[in-house]
Amino acid sequence: MTAKLPSWPYSRYIAHRGGGRLAPENTLAAMRVGAEHGFTMFEYDVKLSSDGVLVLMHDDDVERTSNGRGPAAAKTYAELAQLDFGGWHSAAYAGEPLPTFAAVARYTVANGIASNVEIKPCPGREAETGRAVALAAQALWNGASPPPLLSSFAEEALQAARDAAPELPRALLVEKVPADWQERLVKHGCVALNINQKDATRELIDAVHAAGYRIAAWTVNDPERARLLLDWGIDGIFTDELAAIRPAA
Ligand code: G3P
Ligand code: MG
Repeated sequence: MTAKLPSWPYSRYIAHRGGGRLAPENTLAAMRVGAEHGFTMFEYDVKLSSDGVLVLMHDDDVERTSNGRGPAAAKTYAELAQLDFGGWHSAAYAGEPLPTFAAVARYTVANGIASNVEIKPCPGREAETGRAVALAAQALWNGASPPPLLSSFAEEALQAARDAAPELPRALLVEKVPADWQERLVKHGCVALNINQKDATRELIDAVHAAGYRIAAWTVNDPERARLLLDWGIDGIFTDELAAIRPAA
């Protein structure tokens, strides 16, 4: 028997890191580009500065996406705020600051944009980051709909998020689909499994749905692949190609 699917008040098209390839990832400028392309849901990565401020950043160190050097975990928010997080992308974005999670939450809620908040802890800070993101999300959204979907590859972070704000929906992110995916979804009280698009098959999508969960795939940058996964009934695709893969106007 097929289980009932959890509610899913989210778009099937999700702008990866806010603006995909078109703008510096994980910035407010990226979110504005995503919105201009018709996206109503963004994925972004959140971690803690050394002094406990939640900020948007993918990597463990700042080199790839800023003009600074060294590990993000060793920098205070004041130090991170001095860096240029846009110039690496293109001159048009030079000087773009690192956004706080609070600023991005305000932007998305004010504009009716849904969020998949990926908890991306620096190594060793998994539980602390999961708890901080969940508590901040609860306060920032304050019941606004749709609620942010919290996801992580770090199961310790997901568990801490669940302990801190059990009512916020969660998704388990996996690099490779583990044989015990269903047990892990149960263990962390998740509503969805977020997989690498390479692992997406019609059979897996059907099996996840039959078990009563949603399924989304990252990062889908080929329009034909996107069409196929959507035809198979996937619940969400994360894309960097905002011009080629986007919600219908
Ligand atoms: O959340 C989906 C996707 O962003 C996971 O991979 O490395 O791009 O954060 P990554
Ligand atoms: Mg991510």
